[in-house]
Amino acid sequence: MEQKPVYYSEYLQLDKILNAQEPESTKAGIRADDEMLFIIIHQSYELWFKQIIHEVNIAREVFSKPQIPDNSPELMNVVHRLRRVGLILQMLVEKMDIIESMTPLDFLDFRDLLRPASGFQSIQFKQLEALLGLKFEQRHGQNYYTSQLNKEDIDRVKNSEKEVSLLELVINWLERMPFFDHASWAQEFDKHNSDHPFWQQYREVYFATLQPDERQNDVGFNMLFMNNQDYPAERRLSPEANRHALFIMLYRDYPLLQLPYQLISTLLDIDSLMGQWRSRHLAMVKRMIGSRTGTGGSTGAGYLKSAMDSHFIYKEFAELTSYLVQRNKLPKLDDSLEQKLMFSS
Ligand code: HEM
Repeated sequence: MEQKPVYYSEYLQLDKILNAQEPESTKAGIRADDEMLFIIIHQSYELWFKQIIHEVNIAREVFSKPQIPDNSPELMNVVHRLRRVGLILQMLVEKMDIIESMTPLDFLDFRDLLRPASGFQSIQFKQLEALLGLKFEQRHGQNYYTSQLNKEDIDRVKNSEKEVSLLELVINWLERMPFFDHASWAQEFDKHNSDHPFWQQYREVYFATLQPDERQNDVGFNMLFMNNQDYPAERRLSPEANRHALFIMLYRDYPLLQLPYQLISTLLDIDSLMGQWRSRHLAMVKRMIGSRTGTGGSTGAGYLKSAMDSHFIYKEFAELTSYLVQRNKLPKLDDSLEQKLMFSS
C-alpha cells in the first residue's frame, strides 16, 4: 500500500500547537501584551521537559538489562542521550534571558489572573526529578509539593516516584562491576573482609597526600571505602557502588573505564545544570516578584532557594572527588586486571 504523502503542518500537528495559546487577559478584556510570551515560553519548556524525560527513559531502559558491557554500544547510547539532556538543559538555562525581558510591571498586568496556576504544578518537572533519582524523603516541602495538583496529577507524580530511577539503575550497574573479585588480583584476600588489598594500599597513598588541615579526611575515607559496617546508612550509593565509582574516576584513562567515567561525569553535568536552571529561575523570580508569595501558594523565593539547595541528586558522586590523588601516585594495578582494562584479555 502506498503511503499517504506527509504534510508538514499535519505531521507536526501545528493546528493544535499554534492554537493552544489563550491568554487570560484576552478573556478578561484586559490589555497585557506580554502574556503571549509568558505562555509560549512555558509551553516550550514543557516540550523540552518531555524530550528530556524521553531520553532519560531510554537510558533507564538500557540500564534495566541484566548486563551491559562497559564498552558496549548500549552504554555509548546512554552517554550520548544523557549528554543531549545536558545540552537541552544548558539551552533552558540560557532561555531564562527571554522571560527576563518581561519587566515586573508587564507581569503585573496579568499576574493575578493566573492564580493559583504556577510552574509549581509542572507535573513533568516533578516526574523528571523523580526519574533522575530524587526521593520523596529528600524533597523540600514534602507536605505541599503536590498540594496544588488534582488527584490525577498527584497519581502521575507518585507513579513516577515508584519507578526505578536512573540513579538506582546506575547504582545496580556499578555494583555488578567485577573489579575487586579474586580473578583480577594476584594477591590472596578474604572476600568477606571489606578491606580489600587495593583499598588498604590506596588509603596509604591517599593519606600521604593530605595537607595538615585536611587530616580529618582520613575519617571520611575509612568510613566510605574501608569497613562496610561504618558506611553511612543515609548514603544512596551502596558501599560497592561507591568504591567502584571512585575506582572508575581514578583509573578512567584505561580504555574500558572511559565510557563508565563519561557516564558519571555526564550525571554530574545534569545535576549541575538542573542546579543552574533553579538558580537562574530563582534570580528571575526575585527580580520579578521580590518577596511576594508565588501564584502556586509557596513562600516563593524562599521555597525555590531551599529546593535548589537540597535537590541535588548525584551529589554523592561529586563528593568522591575529595578522595582522588594525582595520577603519578596511583597504585599500579595487577597485570591481569590491567589487561582486562586494556581490552586485551
Ligand atoms: C515571570 C516568570 C516566572 C515567575 C515569577 C515564576 C515564579 C515561580 C514561583 C514563585 C515558584 C514557586 C512556587 C509557587 O508558585 O508558589 C515557581 C516554581 C516553579 N516554576 Fe516558575 N516562575 C516563572 C517562570 C517560569 C518558567 C518560564 C518556567 C518554565 C517551565 C517555570 C517553572 C517552574 C517550576 C518547574 C517550578 C517548580 C520548582 C520546584 O518545585 O523546585 N517558571 N515559579
